[in-house]
Amino acid sequence: MADLNTTYLGLQLKNPVIVSSCGLTSSVDKIKTLEKYNAGAVVLKSLFEEQIKFEAGNLASGNDYPEAMDYVHYYTRNNSVTAYLDLIKQAKEEVDIPVIASINCVSAKEWVDFAKKIEDAGADALEVNVFVLPTDKNAPGAKYEQVYIDLAKKLKEILTIPFAFKLGQHFSNLVGFVENLNALSVQGVVLFNRFYQPDIDVDNLNFKAAEVFSNPSDIRNSLRWVGIISSKVERIDIAASTGVHNGKGVVKQLLAGAEAVQVCSTLYKNGLEHVGNIVEELENWMERHNFKKLEDFRGKMSYRKIEDPLIYERSQFMKYFSSIQ
Ligand SMILES: Cc1cc2nc3c(=O)[nH]c(=O)nc-3n(C[C@H](O)[C@H](O)[C@H](O)COP(=O)(O)O)c2cc1C
Repeated sequence: MADLNTTYLGLQLKNPVIVSSCGLTSSVDKIKTLEKYNAGAVVLKSLFEEQIKFEAGNLASGNDYPEAMDYVHYYTRNNSVTAYLDLIKQAKEEVDIPVIASINCVSAKEWVDFAKKIEDAGADALEVNVFVLPTDKNAPGAKYEQVYIDLAKKLKEILTIPFAFKLGQHFSNLVGFVENLNALSVQGVVLFNRFYQPDIDVDNLNFKAAEVFSNPSDIRNSLRWVGIISSKVERIDIAASTGVHNGKGVVKQLLAGAEAVQVCSTLYKNGLEHVGNIVEELENWMERHNFKKLEDFRGKMSYRKIEDPLIYERSQFMKYFSSIQ
């Protein structure tokens, strides 16, 4: 039998398939079910910076997203910060797989001290899901990237557990930016988050949510960057995310150099048990190719390892498009 063990953020995982932060990881029962179906680890549903500030009495009306106030009022009643810490504690008591907590934030401000409570509650690691939308036409791009850097420095001072940044894909120099995180000894990056996208309802002239779930074809963008960053940035762990819907998707991301792979939409579409199918598909593929462990093929098709790394760049793009008449 193939050995699927891996390490991610210094944690031991029995296999590299992690259930990403979403409603499917918001209760102990669901987490237990995911463990039963062979998930390698879970990332809990995110707690929001606004919730932490609200409970601490720090959510002034001049906060970064004032329109979030009403929502936070409503949401916090049902999903208090204490409940989140209890979720971590209970999950840790009831499952053996690593439990990674998650915070969605927009700043490196007061909430950061709260990260220590997450550590004290027993979380194995923290995933920080930063959402800073660059909308200020007078601000240099570096100002937005500084939020991540400040946050990384503060978290390094506060935490002893490892943490990863879950990133969006729009950075002017993603490789350089991840290298900056690496230089600060940030243990991992998740490439990429798939943010809520607004869409316009042209019949009623109002806004609606765009498609919430990804499609398998959405894997390609993260595949490219996993292949490049795993080659160019030493040390930092990569969890590939977005568009991984089956075992084949996991294999692709491992071949590109990921340490672990996160899945979400496919479990909403196919049920929690599908995580087991994904792991089984990975194992069957390894057996067919006579790979005994993940290290036998991890990164085999990364930017550094392939004969023509330009495949990850423009030459293939030109060849492809000029052949279509
Ligand atoms: C219903 C739903 C809820 C989500 N909630 C969160 C969340 O709380 N925090 C977070 O970091 N990502 C959240 N996500 C994003 C997922 O973790 C994941 O990054 C994204 O869906 C892309 O992966 P996928 O293609 O496997 O779905 C959510 C996604 C969905 C579909």
